[in-house]
Amino acid sequence: MNLKTILLLVAVLGAQAAWAETPVYLDESRPIEERIDDAISRMTLKEKIALLHAQSKFSAPGVPSLGIPELWTDDGPMGVRPEVLWDEWDQAGWTNDSCTAFPSLTCLAATWNPEMATLYGKSIGEEARYRNKSVLLGPGVNIYRTPLCGRNFEYFGEDPYLASAMAADYVRGVQSNGVAVCVKHFALNNNEANRYTTNSIASDRALYEIYLPAFKAAAVDAGAWSLMGGYNLVGGQHATYNQRLVNEILKGEWNWDGVVISDWGAVHDTRQAVEGGLDMEFGTGTDGLTGSGSSYDKYWLANKYYDGVRNGEFSEEQLNDKVRRVLRLTMRTAMNRNRPWGSINSPEHHQACRRIGEEGVVLLRNVDQTLPLTKDKVRKIAVIGENAIKRMTVGGGSSSLKALYEIYPLEGLQSRLGDDFELVYERGYVGDTCTHYNNVWTKQDLTDPRTPQQLTADAVKAASDADLVIFFGGLNKADHQDAEGTDRLSLDLPYGQNELIETLAEVNPNIVVVNISGTGVAMPWLNKVKAVLQAWYLGNETGNTLAGIIAGDVNPSGKLPYTYYATLDQCGAHKLGEYPGTPRHDPVEGDIIDMPYNEDIFVGYRFIDKNKLKPTFPFGYGLSYTTFDYGKATIDRKKGSADDVFTVSIPVTNIGDRQGSEVVQLYISDLKSSLPRPVKELKGFSKVNLAPGETQTVTFEIGRDALSFFDDKAHEWVVEPGKFEALVGASSADIRSRVSFEVQ
Ligand code: GLC
Repeated sequence: MNLKTILLLVAVLGAQAAWAETPVYLDESRPIEERIDDAISRMTLKEKIALLHAQSKFSAPGVPSLGIPELWTDDGPMGVRPEVLWDEWDQAGWTNDSCTAFPSLTCLAATWNPEMATLYGKSIGEEARYRNKSVLLGPGVNIYRTPLCGRNFEYFGEDPYLASAMAADYVRGVQSNGVAVCVKHFALNNNEANRYTTNSIASDRALYEIYLPAFKAAAVDAGAWSLMGGYNLVGGQHATYNQRLVNEILKGEWNWDGVVISDWGAVHDTRQAVEGGLDMEFGTGTDGLTGSGSSYDKYWLANKYYDGVRNGEFSEEQLNDKVRRVLRLTMRTAMNRNRPWGSINSPEHHQACRRIGEEGVVLLRNVDQTLPLTKDKVRKIAVIGENAIKRMTVGGGSSSLKALYEIYPLEGLQSRLGDDFELVYERGYVGDTCTHYNNVWTKQDLTDPRTPQQLTADAVKAASDADLVIFFGGLNKADHQDAEGTDRLSLDLPYGQNELIETLAEVNPNIVVVNISGTGVAMPWLNKVKAVLQAWYLGNETGNTLAGIIAGDVNPSGKLPYTYYATLDQCGAHKLGEYPGTPRHDPVEGDIIDMPYNEDIFVGYRFIDKNKLKPTFPFGYGLSYTTFDYGKATIDRKKGSADDVFTVSIPVTNIGDRQGSEVVQLYISDLKSSLPRPVKELKGFSKVNLAPGETQTVTFEIGRDALSFFDDKAHEWVVEPGKFEALVGASSADIRSRVSFEVQ
């Protein structure tokens, strides 16, 4: 073979090899960062800009020419939202997008069981994966600052330690499916009233000790791959592109490598968004239907940003950081060939829904052993209240779902108790008769021709003829109830429920109230009823979950993740304000509402303890059908540890006659500190399951994290030497044993 032929052969083979060789950005054997560099080197400016904003209501383009896939997102924290039209909030009318509606996140928090958080995250992540969503827009981790916040039901309650622990395992569970979470709404987004214009003003101590921990736990400890900026302003600048929150803290101090996604329509300016650390823009006003060409080009991070880079107003290096983050998110999800395949509407998910609900329902009151039901005391039951028959998986805002099914409380009772008891149902009141949300129909007609008086009379008659009344009331997903976009207008139950419960109690004192809500309500009738269950929005298995607890198949073990205030002035946000804030015209942002967090770090039980108040029910409270006895707490200093590390141990015994779980809580008191500190703070919890007569010794480790507070002057967490106390209890107001110790 002559030289020419050989050279030709070599050239052809070389070309073939080059062609056959996988480009670096697609070669999964290479480190992600190398693949990202390679992809960026192949992208045009237009392709880089396109990556940073939506192409439809819930999706963003990949890089078509390079085969980098699109990024599909979807709500929400309690289930995967049904498909909407390309540019609309309204339904796309698909017939394959029903889902499992899992319990609300306050219910998950109320389980105080990280295993439930992992189960929850894994299950909902499997459903998102099956629906080919790369980003699940949840969990929400905003702290419960006021009981009026319309979205409390989507969050984890008032305490940063509990919220952090539960959110972190939820995140791990979801992302184990190769689906990103999008932790929201970063940050200080603690009410829905004026949510687009509220300017939250909080001290660094409140920020670092109360409002950031759950975000940090999700973003840093659990490694969330994306995070959503809130609609509100923080310190005068929009949260979703906030110099302090995003650049200095999230991407600076925390060195977080994920993608900051705006809330839908939360972006209002190109320069601010670019400089303020935003990486992806979704939901901006243009709906993709109006305007020349695709109105997505009008997004703040679209043509305006493209022109800004071209004319040197914005650096390519800054742009590349955003592109890098989005490519990293894509390679962790849509381009990750090793992801599991997910599943949806499986028996396992329905079982998970029920288990989480059973572990989250809180028994608040149970006199005369009214619960669980027994046939010797009760034959005829009057089931009263709209919430016994009302669909709760539809409505409430972006967390609204098209659940595959929903077992209502009355249905659950009928199937579980119908053979042993006579059940009659009375509506009692008419509250919300809404039939659809975003074109997902409830398939219920809850209209009722009767007058309120007639409804009451019918309910009273049923109650007087029964041995027991089970009243299903509370809130629902309508505006000014548990719903996004509006706050509640008072602490009271709506629709005249308080009066109705009192009226029923007059004719039959044997009343069980099942309060279905995602947040606290006033209970002026509490001492006139025999039992109260705090039953959250429990999703598909609502009726079966509640029937199981009422019948005693399940021993309730939930504990409150927030304080049940008797009145609003027991809550710092209302007593010291401000809520909902003071209007002001800002030269840059226009008409905004300043809302200083005057209660500072004293949120929830921290405010209750400081002011020695007595709420209806304290944080961490919950009863059981059995009884637990706590022994004496002991403390040991851990040998050989450089830092001060202690172990607290306490024996807990089930002294009742049935299996049950108890959430043992550890609070730490810093008896003397250079800055004000709460009387005590939750720094550990453990849920133990005990057979009758069984004792388990629960141990807690106390290290720097449990002892330190944030010194805003020094801008660091500090542990000051001196006396501390470890308090172990069954709730924040039921300390069973305490032990003091000295920190050197
Ligand atoms: C909504 C919510 C956010 C949701 C997003 C997309 O307005 O604030 O939680 O994920 O828009 O629906």
